[in-house]
Amino acid sequence: MKERIFCGAITMRNECLKAFAACAAFAAMIAAPADADAQRRDRGQVNFLEAARQELRPVTFASEFGVASGVLVLPLSAMSDLDVRGAILSSDERAALLRALDAAEFDYGASQTLSLRGIGGWDRILVIGLGDDANLLRYQTVGAVAGRAVISEEGSITFMAQGFSAEAVTELTTGLGIGEYRSDLYRTSGREAASRGGIVVVADADVGAEAQTHYYLRGRALIDAMAWTRDISNEPANIIYPESFVRRARDAFAGVRGVSIQVLDVSAMERLRMGSILGVGRGSERPPRMLIVRYRGPGVPDGAPIVLAGKGITFDSGGISIKGAENMGDMKMDMSAAASVTGAVLALARARAAVNVVAVAALAENMPDGGSIRPGDVITAMNGKTIEVINTDAEGRLVLADALSYAERHLNPSVVVDLATLTGAVRGALGDEYAGLFSRHDALADQLQAAGEVTGERLWRLPLHASYAEDMRSNIADIRNTGSGTGAGAGTGAYFIGEFISREIPWAHLDIANMAYSSANDWKPDGSAGYGVRLLERFVRDFQPVPRGLGEGGN
Ligand code: BES
Ligand code: MN
Ligand code: ZN
Repeated sequence: MKERIFCGAITMRNECLKAFAACAAFAAMIAAPADADAQRRDRGQVNFLEAARQELRPVTFASEFGVASGVLVLPLSAMSDLDVRGAILSSDERAALLRALDAAEFDYGASQTLSLRGIGGWDRILVIGLGDDANLLRYQTVGAVAGRAVISEEGSITFMAQGFSAEAVTELTTGLGIGEYRSDLYRTSGREAASRGGIVVVADADVGAEAQTHYYLRGRALIDAMAWTRDISNEPANIIYPESFVRRARDAFAGVRGVSIQVLDVSAMERLRMGSILGVGRGSERPPRMLIVRYRGPGVPDGAPIVLAGKGITFDSGGISIKGAENMGDMKMDMSAAASVTGAVLALARARAAVNVVAVAALAENMPDGGSIRPGDVITAMNGKTIEVINTDAEGRLVLADALSYAERHLNPSVVVDLATLTGAVRGALGDEYAGLFSRHDALADQLQAAGEVTGERLWRLPLHASYAEDMRSNIADIRNTGSGTGAGAGTGAYFIGEFISREIPWAHLDIANMAYSSANDWKPDGSAGYGVRLLERFVRDFQPVPRGLGEGGN
């Protein structure tokens, strides 16, 4: 099965996941649980869910167009582009298209679409605006909008890309795959028409081969890694819990060269004295895990890696400080950051990028129970700091405290970037245009922001003010896990996390609570955005060493 995941993953992604789920269910039925953790996990587990199969359309590159039927996708920045990309049209079809563009007052703006059915021999012609001065991000977005728009088409798709550079064609094609993602994993009807015909990308002869190489080397890795990340965060919490997250990660990385995976179970975390993540996990039937995925690319010397740590709360009920019923189900996505850091390393590793990177997923389920931590409890993190738990719903910072302490002690990081769906407050500050970025190291913050601009996963830098220390002061312990509640909610959360890594190590925290999960738009369906995969993939590839030291920004 592992073989199939990695050779077959390209087109058969979800069939493998389905097979995997079936195997896991069967194994759970016949095998006596090997350890106490497994016993807890399998107690009362009755699960007949199977995720629906999801295929990616096969993509081929051609320098000449073939049959004029099925769906035609025409990216245009002006009517005159038809002279380049409209050669496939008969004169009647072209006249009808021009008439429709005129009647619709189509202005060729970025990602604007016009869908026409039944012109000439075409089932559908999808015109999509490129806008002026398209950059690579624009091409990827246009590709994703097109991919999403044609998701239910049964026929083959001809994608006209003549006149574009190899980079642009690569981005368009990568975008197509990203746009094909669907989140209705458990819908048992209405998915039949998905992904039947293939996509033929028609590009200039001298760019097609290059685009194809880059697409298969990097684009495909990104598409599959984003889909993996989005599946994991869309999956409900009865499917994804710490151990099943780890299994899915092992499956995804099976056979990928340069990767090693380490998993800390409860007894390993006890030996390391990780009282903070263990405290969060204590109220759950599903025991916590710390997943560590290392990847070092070909020819890369064995130096200090970039460490990407992610909050992985597989369900956040709030614990004893329980949340209200409204939208509580959305908290199945509270492991999105862990999925994104793992997905970013998956994209890099499958593309054999020349980088040295480690993902750390801090996995736990936050539940109320007789064994749960209570407000007022004091727990001790791996670095020896004592924490007064004021609110058990501020649990993301608790699992990251041990992830960062572990990274510092055991992973020799050059820099540490943590991601978390940490606070509702970040949405109040930034809406849904930017994730929050906190760092004391300008050179690190700048590189993250630059990667954000290039990938469209933008970051806005927010302060780590010295006064947050006051807000987090405890009467009984070294620090408490929430502030007064009237202050800077995202900032005090960031400040807390920063107390669990030495100030000399360049560190940044990204609060992605406002970006990870959202309703559908023209490039993505409802649910996970896979936010952070593209950002981190770019950041790691472009990384320039950051000097250690106290840093310039913040206190
Ligand atoms: N997982 C939530 C944050 C969240 C909220 C993510 C909405 C996505 C959407 C986090 O664990 C949490 O509960 N944060 C609290 C912090 C507070 C108790 C200091 C919050 O934001 O209210
Ligand atoms: Mn919470
Ligand atoms: Zn949470």
